Amino acid sequence: MNNDSIIIRGGKKLNGEVRISGSKNATVALIPATVLATNVVTICDVPEISDVDALSTLLEELNVKVTRRQDHIVIDPTEIRNVTLDHEAVSKLRASYYFMGALLGRYKQVKIKMSGGCYLGPRPIDLHLKGFESLGAKVDYDDGYYMITAEELKGTNIYLDFASVGATINIMMAACFAKGRTTIENAAKEPEIIDLSSMLNKMGAQIRGAGTNEITIDGVDKLGGCFHEIIPDRIEAGTYIIMAAACAEKVKISNIIPQHLESLLLKLDEMGVRMDIGIDSVTVYGGNELQSVEVKTLPYPGFATDLQQPLTALLTQAVGFSRIKDTIYPERFKHCHELSLMGADIEVGGGSSSITGPTPLEGCTVTATDLRCGASLVIAGLLANGTTTIKDAYHIYRGYDNIKEKLRSLGADVE
Ligand code: EPZ
Repeated sequence: MNNDSIIIRGGKKLNGEVRISGSKNATVALIPATVLATNVVTICDVPEISDVDALSTLLEELNVKVTRRQDHIVIDPTEIRNVTLDHEAVSKLRASYYFMGALLGRYKQVKIKMSGGCYLGPRPIDLHLKGFESLGAKVDYDDGYYMITAEELKGTNIYLDFASVGATINIMMAACFAKGRTTIENAAKEPEIIDLSSMLNKMGAQIRGAGTNEITIDGVDKLGGCFHEIIPDRIEAGTYIIMAAACAEKVKISNIIPQHLESLLLKLDEMGVRMDIGIDSVTVYGGNELQSVEVKTLPYPGFATDLQQPLTALLTQAVGFSRIKDTIYPERFKHCHELSLMGADIEVGGGSSSITGPTPLEGCTVTATDLRCGASLVIAGLLANGTTTIKDAYHIYRGYDNIKEKLRSLGADVE
């Protein structure tokens, strides 16, 4: 289906300003978390991405009313029913599993079909399930369904073997009404976790320490409604900053929190990218010769694994030999083959990619294998001579709000 492709005529310099939308990875946790509320929750700056549509469908399956306005969403859970979640929308994104923690937390029972999402190598949820069991829940898996139940949820000490974002968030939600205090040690520190914690606390939860590696949740009886504004999407922001470093004359990326992008900005500075960093924006100037660098992805605040794929496209234009090691997803390199089709010189092996540059890129037909692979191909297409057709563009629409409109506003030739 051609409407599933993005076509880019490359070689144009980008100029102007792009406003970053609300964080996808916060949004996909905040929406399921509203089932914990006994009253209306209004969430502002919701990105227009297909993941939000899938999650809204699942809320409606639970008889939760969802009203989409211009840039906010009004969620009314007052008539909620805890039915089995087996709508095909569950398989549209891995983050459907946040309904496990939220429904278990509120009803001590949840039945849901196994969740899907991007293929990034094995993505188990063992840490999530171990957390639920530590709180007193019983986890059964049968015929493609998880059935998780608890007589009582009791606060306890949970140590995460890996600082998993998803497990931290899921356990935080499951513990909101548990009796007593739950402590999550070796918790993930991503800004999206802080954003969820601040919304839940506005609803009446007692969560402390989000953003550090130790989070405590003191159980309460119920949660009310609230009004919440989502933090800007640091991965969308990073993607446009990398794109500007590749193709801009002068581009301002606004509505961002620069502190959330520190490791990327330091790495781009090391490459010789010229930037002015403001309070809530970054202005990127093109024209500098870029130097090769070494990158190693780490849990936040280290270099984000989600940005190593877009950065790869930029590194094809850096002078010398660059290397990226992804310690989070050692198999997250499907974009390298696609970039090679366009002329990039990249070797992949042992959880790393090695990029030799600069190499001219030629437009051709490539395939987005996952969301951030798609983002790297968009950047490569903007850089390339000629026309690039990116197939399976639906991956890109999962996480990049109005990407074609934003690219056109910067002067890109996209359809
Ligand atoms: C979140 O995924 C993000 N998704 C991912 O972004 C991001 O790449 C990832 O964090 C790492 O930063 C959302 O927030 C919706 P993890 P998540 O649990 O929660 C292993 C994007 O492009 N693990 O921190 O799934 C797992 O296999 C997406 O926006 C277990 O072994 O990440 C992986 O190797 C892609 N057992 C590592 O931990 C578990 O129970 C990171 O997983 C859970 C995770």
